[in-house]
Amino acid sequence: NLPREVRIVEVGPRDGLQNEPKRVETAQKLELVRRLVESGLNTVEATAFVSPKWVPQMSDHKEIMSHLMAAIEGSNAAISFPALVPNLKGMEAAVEAGAREVAIFASASESFSKKNINCSVEESLERFRPVLELAESEGIRVRGYVSCVIGCPFEGRIQPDSVAELSRKLVEMGCYEISLGDTIGCGSPGSVSRMVRRVQQDVSTDKIAVHFHDTYGQALANILASLQLGVAVVDSSVAGLGGCPYAKGATGNVATEDVLYMLQDLSIETGVSLENVVETGDWISKELGRRNGSSVARALLAK
Ligand code: HMG
Ligand code: MG
Repeated sequence: NLPREVRIVEVGPRDGLQNEPKRVETAQKLELVRRLVESGLNTVEATAFVSPKWVPQMSDHKEIMSHLMAAIEGSNAAISFPALVPNLKGMEAAVEAGAREVAIFASASESFSKKNINCSVEESLERFRPVLELAESEGIRVRGYVSCVIGCPFEGRIQPDSVAELSRKLVEMGCYEISLGDTIGCGSPGSVSRMVRRVQQDVSTDKIAVHFHDTYGQALANILASLQLGVAVVDSSVAGLGGCPYAKGATGNVATEDVLYMLQDLSIETGVSLENVVETGDWISKELGRRNGSSVARALLAK
């Protein structure tokens, strides 16, 4: 039942870097994106048009987006650089910078919504309405995230019903795809399969993506469980960079290298070069002075 092809959504430059305590230079970020695209990754989440007071690391969003859009201007390659937007103000800035795809983010948990975007889940949906209207008039694609799909750092377990309901609403509002985020990485294949199956009752499988953090070391198993249910879009982060500033203890996203290694062995096509991503992951880990978070990369580099 496994898909023959998987689309990888590389989230390293956004989810990976947003929590980095030391300021990463704009030029370094742009070089990271350039290398990722060169590896064959054609969806790279590049930045977030969020408040610089909340997430200082993303404050160069305008510069990042306008540079990237200029770099691909006139090219026929189907490359996409989605950016997170939390509200109309962020959306207007994204449009001004030339963004062609954005991602809105809602939470399946009330408390996390308050901590992350300072409003209730219902209020967040209200804030997203004008974002989607502007997107439609500008012809911009909108991806939707649902975070805390398994557990919440403040509320504990989250009911699959809540995840399905929110996912359905986001699709009805105009999102072309919903990325189901296990923000604190507490899920494992049992809970993940139950949650994905429940969402599939409300949202067609071709609109479902999965987004796992590897806090409990379950991310690859969770991806395999999702693939077995027909999901064919996977978010991951080079060198396993990442963590959410508003989810204490949440570690990195599943490493892109680890996902590619598993998919290769399953003969699932991605169009991405594992070797090149390993090189890029090694480079950025050294630049940031971090241990490479990909087990596959560490093993291959030690050879
Ligand atoms: P707020 O303080 O409630 O906003 O923050 P406000 O509307 O009251 O405005 C306060 C100030 O912020 C004003 O400026 C606004 O202009 C400004 P002041 O008058 O004080 O100078 N402001 C903005 N500035 C820049 N860009 C904007 C913007 N909006 C208002 N878009 C807000 C509300 C949503 C802005 C804030 O809470 C925020 O930026 N939150 C973002 C948090 C974030 O980025 N979290 C990490 C991403 S989510 C994630 O990682 C999970 C995910 O990976 C999936 C998963 O793992 O599950 C996606
Ligand atoms: Mg995340």
